[in-house]
Amino acid sequence: MTNGAGALGVCYYPEHWPEIWWADDARRMRELGLTFVRIGEFAWSRFEPARGKFDWGWLDRAIETLHAAGMKIVMCTPTATPPKWLMDEFPEIAPVDIEGRPRGFGSRRHTTFSSEVWWRESARIVEAVASRYGAHPAIACWQTDNEYGCHDTVLSYGPEDLKGFRRWLRAHYQTTDQLNEAWGNAFWSMDVSSFEQVTLPNLTVTEPNPAARLDYWRYLSSQVAAYDKMQCDIIRGASPGRRITHNFMGLFNEFDHWPMGEHLDFASWDSYPIGFCERFPFSEEERGRWAETSHPDVAPFNHDLYRGVGKGKFWVMEQQPGPVNWAPWNPAPKPGMVRLWTLEAMAHGAETVSYFRWRQAVHAQEQMHAGLNLPGTHEWSVGGREAGIAAKELQELGPLPASGQAQVALVHDYEASWITRIQPQGADYHAHELTFRWYEAARRLGWDVDIVKPGASLDGYKLTLVPCLPYVSDAAAAAFKAAKGAVLFGPRTGSKTRNFSIPANLPPGPVAELTGVRVAQVSSLRPNLTEAVSGQAVGHAVRWREYLEIEDVTVLATFASGDAAFTAKGHCAYLACWPDAALLTSAMAQMAKAAGLPTLPLPEAIRLRCRGNLTFAFNYGNAPWAAPNLGKLVLGEQTVGPQSVGVWRA
Ligand code: GAL
Repeated sequence: MTNGAGALGVCYYPEHWPEIWWADDARRMRELGLTFVRIGEFAWSRFEPARGKFDWGWLDRAIETLHAAGMKIVMCTPTATPPKWLMDEFPEIAPVDIEGRPRGFGSRRHTTFSSEVWWRESARIVEAVASRYGAHPAIACWQTDNEYGCHDTVLSYGPEDLKGFRRWLRAHYQTTDQLNEAWGNAFWSMDVSSFEQVTLPNLTVTEPNPAARLDYWRYLSSQVAAYDKMQCDIIRGASPGRRITHNFMGLFNEFDHWPMGEHLDFASWDSYPIGFCERFPFSEEERGRWAETSHPDVAPFNHDLYRGVGKGKFWVMEQQPGPVNWAPWNPAPKPGMVRLWTLEAMAHGAETVSYFRWRQAVHAQEQMHAGLNLPGTHEWSVGGREAGIAAKELQELGPLPASGQAQVALVHDYEASWITRIQPQGADYHAHELTFRWYEAARRLGWDVDIVKPGASLDGYKLTLVPCLPYVSDAAAAAFKAAKGAVLFGPRTGSKTRNFSIPANLPPGPVAELTGVRVAQVSSLRPNLTEAVSGQAVGHAVRWREYLEIEDVTVLATFASGDAAFTAKGHCAYLACWPDAALLTSAMAQMAKAAGLPTLPLPEAIRLRCRGNLTFAFNYGNAPWAAPNLGKLVLGEQTVGPQSVGVWRA
C-alpha cells in the first residue's frame, strides 16, 4: 500500500514451515503486493511448551524476517488454542455441551468463557506476548483470540457456567422474588428461594423456561465481550498506539457483537462466501445456483454489518482463496471470484483484505483448504494469481474515498435471533434468515445499506428497515419515534418484553401507538399454507401471518381474507407476515415511493455499491451485464462480464 490504496494481507503460520523458507515467503508476499501478515493465533504450544518456559526465539526470528522484507504484522493472542499441559492442569476450563458432556482436547476453542481460571491463564499469556512484542516496530496492530464462538462455543453447560450464571443473576435481580416474577416461575412450580437453586437451562424433561434461556444467552454473550475487553486492556497497556481488532465470523449470531465493537478500534471478519452459502438456510435450488460464486448478498451483508460494528472501520481478516474444507460440499470458486470478492470488500468500505492462508497445509484438519500457494509449495494457486491481479488493480485505483452514509438503514439485533431460536413457533422462522431476505430485497432495488444496532440514531436515513425485532428496548422505541425518514417494521416486532413475556398492550408493544396496530392472533404457516396479499404491495404471506386490529392507519394491502396485511401511519409502516420475495420487494418499493427514495431494480446476479464518488458493479452471474451510465469508467468494461467487476468515478 504505497499510495493509500486499499491494502491486502495474508494469514501466515511460520511454525508450519521450515525456517529456511521464511525469507523467500516474505519476499514473495511483497512481490504479490501484500502489506500485512497476520501471525500467532494458534501457536501457544510453541510460545510456551511448558508452564513458564517460553520459547520466543523462533518467533523473534520470524518477526525479524517479515519485518526486513517490509511486511507489517498483525500480531494475535493465542487463546483459541490452549495447550495440552494447561488443559491437564485445569480440566475445568473445558466447555460442556448441551447434553452435559465435556468437550475434549484435540482441535481448538476447548474453553468456556465462564471459567475464572481460564481468564487468569488468558491474561497471563496475553501479557507475555504483548509485553514481548508490543513495542516492536513491525507490529502494526493486534487481533484478539480467533473467532469467538466458532464451533458452537458460546453456550456451555458445565459447573463453571452455572457458578457464573448464578453470580450474574444475583447482580441483575438482587432477590429471588424479583427473579421469580421476571421469569414467570409460578408457572409449573419453577419458583426458587435462593440463587443456589437456579439450574442451567439444559437437560430438562421438556423445554426449559424461555426467559431463563434468554438470560443465559445474555450472560454468556456478555462474558465474551468482557473477556475480549480484558485482553484489549492488557494489550493497550503494553502496546501503545497499535490498533486492536477481533476477527468475527460471517452470518453468526451466537453472541451480541455490538458491545464488543464499542471497545475495539476496528472490526474485522472472516469471509468464506461459498462455505456460508452451503450452510445458510437457502433453498436447495438457490444453493445450486450460487454454488461456485456464493449468493451475491452473503459477503456484502457481512461487510455492511461489520462496517457498523467497527464504527465505520473494518477489514476482512480472512478471505476465502479457493475451496474450503468445512462445508458439506466445497466447490472451487469460479475463476475471477477471488478478485471479485476482494474488490467487493473494498467497495463496501474495507481498509484491508487479508487472505487465509499463505500456503495450503499438508498436515492436519485443514489440509484440504486452499491457500495462495499450492500445498507445501512455492507456486501460486488460482487464488494466489487473482490476489496479485487485485493488488495491481487497487494500486491503479489509488486512494479509496471514505464510505458515505447510505440512504437505507437495516436494524440488526442479535437477541432477535436468540428469541426466535428459543421460541420459533413455526419450524422455519429464523430472524436471521428474515433479516438477510430484507437485505437482499433492498440490494436488488439498487440500494446501499447501512446495518445499524437497535437504538442507533436514524438521522439521515430516508428509510429504515426493521425485519424482526421481538424485544424493542426503550432506546430503540425512541429512535423509531424520532426517525425523520420512513420506518418499515416486520412481523413479531415488539412481541416480547425484556423478560420474554407478552407485553401488556399486546404486540407490537412499545411501537403499538406509532404503528396503529395491535396483533390479536398469530399463525405459523407450514410449507403448504400461504396466503395471497394484494393492494399496493402484491405477493404471498409464507411461514407466518398475523391478525391485526387497526386504528387510524392506511391499509396499503390486504390478505385474501380481507384483513389488513400492510399498513401505514405517519412515518411508520407494518408488514403483518413473512413476505415472499415479490411481496417484500413491492412493499419496499412502495415505501421508497412514499419516501422519495430512487430505486434501480437489478438482475438477480448484479449488485452495485458506492464508496464515496466511486460506483462498483459486481456480476455474480453467467451473462454479461450492460451497465447504465454510472460515471467515468476507471476499471473493467462498461459491459461487466460474468464473475467480473466494473468501477466508475462520478
Ligand atoms: C476460519 C478460522 C481459520 C480457519 C478458516 C478455514 O473460521 O478462523 O482459522 O479455520 O476458518 O476456513
